[in-house]
Amino acid sequence: MARILTGIQSSGKPHLGNILGAIEPSIKLSQNSENESLFFIADLHSLINIKDSQLRKENTISVAAAWISMGFDYKNNFFYRQSKIQEVCELNWYLNCFTPFPMLSNSHSYKDKSNNLSSVNAGLFTYPILMASDILLYDADIVPVGKDQKQHLEITRDIAKSFNHQYGETLVVPESKIDNKVMTIPGIDGRKMSKSYENTIDVFENENILKKQIMSIVTDSKGIEEKKTPNNCNVFNLYKLIADDSEIIRMKENYEKGNYGYGHAKKELFDLVIEKYKKPRSKYFELIKNQDHIYKILGQGEIKAKKIACTVLERVRNKLGY
Ligand code: ADP
Ligand code: TRP
Repeated sequence: MARILTGIQSSGKPHLGNILGAIEPSIKLSQNSENESLFFIADLHSLINIKDSQLRKENTISVAAAWISMGFDYKNNFFYRQSKIQEVCELNWYLNCFTPFPMLSNSHSYKDKSNNLSSVNAGLFTYPILMASDILLYDADIVPVGKDQKQHLEITRDIAKSFNHQYGETLVVPESKIDNKVMTIPGIDGRKMSKSYENTIDVFENENILKKQIMSIVTDSKGIEEKKTPNNCNVFNLYKLIADDSEIIRMKENYEKGNYGYGHAKKELFDLVIEKYKKPRSKYFELIKNQDHIYKILGQGEIKAKKIACTVLERVRNKLGY
């Protein structure tokens, strides 16, 4: 049996990049009865950027509702808030002492912002150690994430190996699992889709907002009648990720033969997103109205998750002589 673990920060509503890059592949893995899955909401990580507690809570609910509406079987697995298993903070301290400074200063999450150091808090700098703690605290074997998290997984493995080297086999060294088909989902401006770039397609937003986002996808300025190159176009590249083969071939032919404008393609993409996520969207809107129900589900998951965390932490404390 493999233990699968992944987390999403409570930094906004999950977008198409999160869904294709993390939620769908993780749920697929969790459906294999040989696996046991721990999916959590990284609500301590989101404090790095979000200081408004009400907003963080709303985001937590939203991320939880997204996992449930996408079909995660939370009853037979583990579903919890990172902040409710405080053992992670204790492990975080121990792992701090096994993390070489240059490893953190080379991490992309920090490096990307290091030209403006006054905006960097120590939480952002040590972010990969908390992530390593999230993973190692539960003896995770496999961590499905988007490509942008690959480096964090390498850091996690290095920290675990360094601990094991010093104290003997204690921590499970996890493998990352990155779906090659989805790798990095482009946002509406062609850069990586990310909440921090404000270029997301918010599948769980109302139709008007969703439509506006899709209609604002940046394209070149070719006129309707001109022939177009599908693979150079953000609209086609997004469509390709969710459409089936025959739909992809049809859109590709339309691009190549001309008399097919980007507006047409965007409208098709919008219709497909609505159709493909019809069920999860309606489930999401229903769930979000009953927050107590979501808190109850998480509360039950947290009791189960805490048991694993306590066992692993005790193993670590013993090795450290505490
Ligand atoms: P964001 O960049 O919007 O803040 P998160 O960092 O919360 O997103 O990402 C949560 C999960 O979704 C991670 O596993 C991450 O790799 C995945 N993910 C986020 N954006 C993308 C993307 N554009 N393409 C593929 N996966 C993504
Ligand atoms: N850093 C991840 C992200 O921003 C979220 C995260 C936190 C995570 N802890 C994790 C993902 C542990 C996988 C495993 O996307």
